[in-house]
Amino acid sequence: MSRPIGVFDSGVGGLTVLGALRQRFPAEDFVYLGDTARLPYGTKSATTVQRYAVNAAAHLEGHGIKLLVVACNTASSYALDALDRAVSIPVVGVVEPGVRAAIATGAARIGVIGTEGTIRSEAYQRALAGRAAPVEVEAVACPLLVPLAEEGWGDHPITDQVADYYLAPLVAWGVETVILGCTHYPLLRPSLQRVVGPRIQLVDSATAVAEMVAADHSDLLSPGDREGAVRIELTDASDRFLRITRSILGRDPEELEVVDIDQA
Ligand code: DGL
Repeated sequence: MSRPIGVFDSGVGGLTVLGALRQRFPAEDFVYLGDTARLPYGTKSATTVQRYAVNAAAHLEGHGIKLLVVACNTASSYALDALDRAVSIPVVGVVEPGVRAAIATGAARIGVIGTEGTIRSEAYQRALAGRAAPVEVEAVACPLLVPLAEEGWGDHPITDQVADYYLAPLVAWGVETVILGCTHYPLLRPSLQRVVGPRIQLVDSATAVAEMVAADHSDLLSPGDREGAVRIELTDASDRFLRITRSILGRDPEELEVVDIDQA
């Protein structure tokens, strides 16, 4: 039996990353863990996010996963080193793939938007500063965007107003590419793109993560044309999360279970 790939997010936004991984690696089995009981991570301290992320990873390791994809920008920003130390399998975060995708656009001025934690950690700023080609970077925390995404207001006049408040300074600065540094933000693309205009590129990590897994971990991937299974686990399955899960997947999940990971 092939071992699954573990995908972890603070909530259900990471299903956007799971979707890209499934499309790229249809033969793989996946276990997705959304820590909905403890969401949001974006407003919490580094220490708490590290503790939650290590706890979630221990739970996923119990499923015998061969690779851990941290499909949460806040956890990738604060906890990647802690996770590397805590588990015995390779760990892939979303920051590096997002940065690679932004650099590939050729932009000289790159904006990063994310949760307060992601921006405060400066993980994106550091990753962008370390590139061979120098780029200018401006980073903006957008705490009101996650609730708007969860409300399903990805294409909505109120989201346009809020996004304009956060993004107008980046546009005035001359940003060419904006990294959507939060798993929820791809759900807001229609409003975000309308606000920044058609010439500014919005990049998210979902496809880029899949490319990075293909490039760096091909030895772990399952060959063959079987169709892999997906198991979704949430630490809380309120009606709200089930509704968002359905809207991201475009259907009911095949297998969804509520799990208690506190003892992991
Ligand atoms: N998944 C988180 C991220 O990508 C957003 C939601 C949260 O604050 O937990 O940063």
